[in-house]
Amino acid sequence: MNRTADLVLTAKRRMLPIYRPRELVLERGQGARVWDRDGREFVDFAAGIAVCSLGHGDPDLQAALTEQAGRLWHTSNVFYSEPPIRLVEELAAASGFAERVFLCNSGSEANEAAIKLVRRWASQQGREAGRRVILTFRGSFHGRTLAAVTATAQPKYQEGYEPLPGGFRYVDFNDEVAVEAAMAAGDVAAVMVEPVQGEGGVMPAKPGFLRFLREQCDRHGALLVLDEIQCGMGRTGELFACHGEGVVPDILTLAKALGGGFPIGALLAGPKVAEVMQFGAHGSTFGGNPLAAAVARVALRKLASPAVLGNVARQADRLRAGLAALDAEFGLFAQVRGRGLMIGAALGPDHAGRAGEILDHCARHGLLLLQAGPDVLRFVPALTISDADIDEGLARLRAALADFVAA
Ligand SMILES: Cc1ncc(COP(=O)(O)O)c(C=O)c1O
Repeated sequence: MNRTADLVLTAKRRMLPIYRPRELVLERGQGARVWDRDGREFVDFAAGIAVCSLGHGDPDLQAALTEQAGRLWHTSNVFYSEPPIRLVEELAAASGFAERVFLCNSGSEANEAAIKLVRRWASQQGREAGRRVILTFRGSFHGRTLAAVTATAQPKYQEGYEPLPGGFRYVDFNDEVAVEAAMAAGDVAAVMVEPVQGEGGVMPAKPGFLRFLREQCDRHGALLVLDEIQCGMGRTGELFACHGEGVVPDILTLAKALGGGFPIGALLAGPKVAEVMQFGAHGSTFGGNPLAAAVARVALRKLASPAVLGNVARQADRLRAGLAALDAEFGLFAQVRGRGLMIGAALGPDHAGRAGEILDHCARHGLLLLQAGPDVLRFVPALTISDADIDEGLARLRAALADFVAA
């Protein structure tokens, strides 16, 4: 038995079997290419689920990490270190609205903190517990901690984990009438929404929907919480997705690309909520870790640059043109949608539920691709991807689709 097969066997025996990774063991990456330990090369349209937005092996991220690694790894939050102080200042400035920032380690933690902040704010407003409802949307994904998974209005993530925390209400995404009805009772403390739903099928908020939510929140004295964990940090072509909509949230959550592959999450708090959580109200041992913060400072600076944001628009056009050509050839897609370099190709009804099979073909042809649910191919490559890598990825996708239709 070769060593890769041994490793996969060990993984299958020892890891909690909550994932079903493709049977290849990745070893190194450069830009939008990765190699497995058997030397096979892949074009990476997955970027670690929209995390490695500067590609693999970015020299500036590496330098920040190794330099910080030579200085100080961890202090916890009972002492200051410089990188998180600099990072929160830079995040607040980049956001244009945040007065305070909480650093944590993942998207779920950022959303968990957001949920707690909403509840604490509502409590300070004198609202009894029954009037601290958080409105979220069907098809959303906000994470796997118990509160975040309850905010996630998809039963498949919740089943078997009951009793779930109370005080959440779900409505259809992009449905203004449903939102109005759900807020009419005046018991909603916050609306929590992804500007582009990611895991739920790469579904953007329709034009004006976020602005409508902002107005509804203002009318009903509720907070607007934007989950930009997947769609933020440049992925839509703006540093924050809400910048493109002219909508200012009260709370915004980030993770994924913020660390370029190093785990970190952040909650950004606007003026209404910045002073709500005081000493002892929340915490995290690793949140604000200097290694993560040193890397994230560089990631933020680079992802906000005109060079990177300009490349998003350019490569999004290139990728969409390529997908349109593939659709003309194979006729597999019902819709290609998304914003910037967050693109979903929804399979038509004849191929519903078969995205996973296409991903298997892609891996065989040297392309790493994701699905978003059973029916949608999800494209979230590095925002720095080149013309040549987009073209090569599309060529490999073409080969994979040809195998799929022939099978
Ligand atoms: C929009 C959104 N929110 C929250 C999360 C949860 O983040 P994490 O997996 O880092 O906990 C994700 C992860 O996919 C996400 O896409």
